[in-house]
Amino acid sequence: MEVEDINTIAVLGAGSMGHGIAEVAAIAGYDVNMRDINEEFVQSGYDDIEWSLDKLAEKDQLSRDEADAALERVTPLVDMEEAVSDAEFVIEAVPEQMEIKEDVYEELESAAPDHAIFATNTSSLSITELASFTERPERFCGMHFFNPPIRMQLVEVISGAETDEKTLEVTEELAEAFDKTPVRVHKDSPGFIVNRILVPLMNEACWLVTEDEATIAEVDSTTKYGMGLPMGSFELGDQVGNDVSYHVLDYMHDVLGEAYEPAPLLEEKVENEEFGRKSGKGFYDYE
Ligand code: CAA
Repeated sequence: MEVEDINTIAVLGAGSMGHGIAEVAAIAGYDVNMRDINEEFVQSGYDDIEWSLDKLAEKDQLSRDEADAALERVTPLVDMEEAVSDAEFVIEAVPEQMEIKEDVYEELESAAPDHAIFATNTSSLSITELASFTERPERFCGMHFFNPPIRMQLVEVISGAETDEKTLEVTEELAEAFDKTPVRVHKDSPGFIVNRILVPLMNEACWLVTEDEATIAEVDSTTKYGMGLPMGSFELGDQVGNDVSYHVLDYMHDVLGEAYEPAPLLEEKVENEEFGRKSGKGFYDYE
């Protein structure tokens, strides 16, 4: 399959990454089936897309007509069969837990056309292991967007052990059609490149505060104004989602060892469901 053959894209998961990816694909002119497990989740993702498109139109980053047309191209769905049966390309953005993804791929494999490419937006999990839940490991790869997808330029395109070259090329061309910059990651290692560097940085910030060596305000001032990051480490953690950072670290801890142990402060945020911006509270309050 060539990138020109892609008309319909299914995005599985309507959370902060799923709805953001669906929005980017719709702005690029694709028909997008956005699927989540219940009406409430999928409607919430759809409302977030509408909010974001309105913001872009208000700021003249899109015309009102382009914003309206993009929203028209997004179909919110709960039924898997309906979401994927006519899709040439499927992007999975469900929670970062292997067991959840395994169940989704089992259902997806039997509902999707044989020629469709599957791409996972996993932040850290093994592409090779995820591909093994399907019958098409050669047409399976990582397509990793960054939060918020509408604003972040990079897409990591990651090869699994059996991914064929054509799948990687089509995925890179699709990222370009989304007006993003793909970077090929040839080794399927935990966290790939960005998260292998960024998530331990956020974790180290949590250890500093846990051990009473610095305050959140001190860490954020230095990381933002001294290290030139666009946000302080804790602001960034709240943007990414503390649950996401925790799952990435937990996996890197399991696979790569002690150095990646999640800090107690991060664990506490997850236990208290203080996930960051998306839940209204994280290291900062957003309500
Ligand atoms: N759609 C449209 N508008 C949006 C929006 C969205 N999804 N999200 C925020 N906005 C709006 C805000 O409402 C705000 O609008 P107002 O000005 O009207 O209040 C505006 O955009 C915010 O823009 P700012 O000018 O204040 O901020 P900015 O443009 O300078 O930058 C940013 C925002 C791009 C998020 C920047 O802070 C940044 O690059 N942060 C770092 C993000 C990052 O590193 N992400 C990667 C994390 S790692 C990851 O995601 C991987 C993983 O797997 C865990």
